[in-house]
Amino acid sequence: MKEEISVLLTEEQLDSRIRELGEQISKDYEGSSVHLVCILKGGTFFMCELAKRIKIPVSIDFMSVSSYGDSSVSSGVVKIIKDLDKPIEGKNVLIVEDIIDTGRTLSYLLKVLSHRNPESLKLVTLLDKPERRIVDDVKVDYTGFEIPDEFVVGYGLDYAERYRNLPYIGVVKL
Ligand code: IMP
Ligand code: MG
Repeated sequence: MKEEISVLLTEEQLDSRIRELGEQISKDYEGSSVHLVCILKGGTFFMCELAKRIKIPVSIDFMSVSSYGDSSVSSGVVKIIKDLDKPIEGKNVLIVEDIIDTGRTLSYLLKVLSHRNPESLKLVTLLDKPERRIVDDVKVDYTGFEIPDEFVVGYGLDYAERYRNLPYIGVVKL
C-alpha cells in the first residue's frame, strides 16, 4: 500500500522557526556553552540545522533509545540502545528531540541524564503533540511547533524508516 503525504510545515517555515530557536538559545546561554544531546535517529536533521544557528560554543553527542519500532503505536518500553560517548557532568545539556508524543521517552531520559549531574538540563523539540501526552513530568523548554494529533514524517521523522529525508514535515494518509 502506498501512503500519501500532505505538507504540514514547509521547508521555509521550518527554517525560519529553527533560526528563531537558535537565536533564543544563543541568548539564554550567553557567556557559556551548550552540549547538544541528539536523540537518534529522528533528532539528527533538526540538530544539524539548529547547531548551525547557535552562536555560542557547541559540542554534540548522541543517544539512541527504543520507542516505536516500526509501528506507529507506542509500546511504552524505553531502552538505551546507544549511550552517550562522554560524561555530561558539569555541562549545560540540551536534549534535542524530533517530536514529543506521549512523553514517555523524554520522561525516562530526563531522569537518567539528571542523575549524571549536568550543570543544567533542558529540552528542545522540533514538534510537540500536546494532545497525546500521557506523562506529566516532561517540561519542554523550547518548542518549534505544536501540531495536531496526526502521524507526521520528514525532517528526520520516519514511517517504518522511510521519509526521513523529506525537507518538510508531512502528514501520512494511509
Ligand atoms: P513518545 O515517547 O511517545 O513521546 O515518543 C517519542 C518518539 O516517538 C519520537 O522520538 C519519534 O521517534 C516517535 N514518534 C512519535 N510521533 C511520531 C510521528 O508522528 N511520526 C514519527 N515518529 C513519531
Ligand atoms: Mg521513530
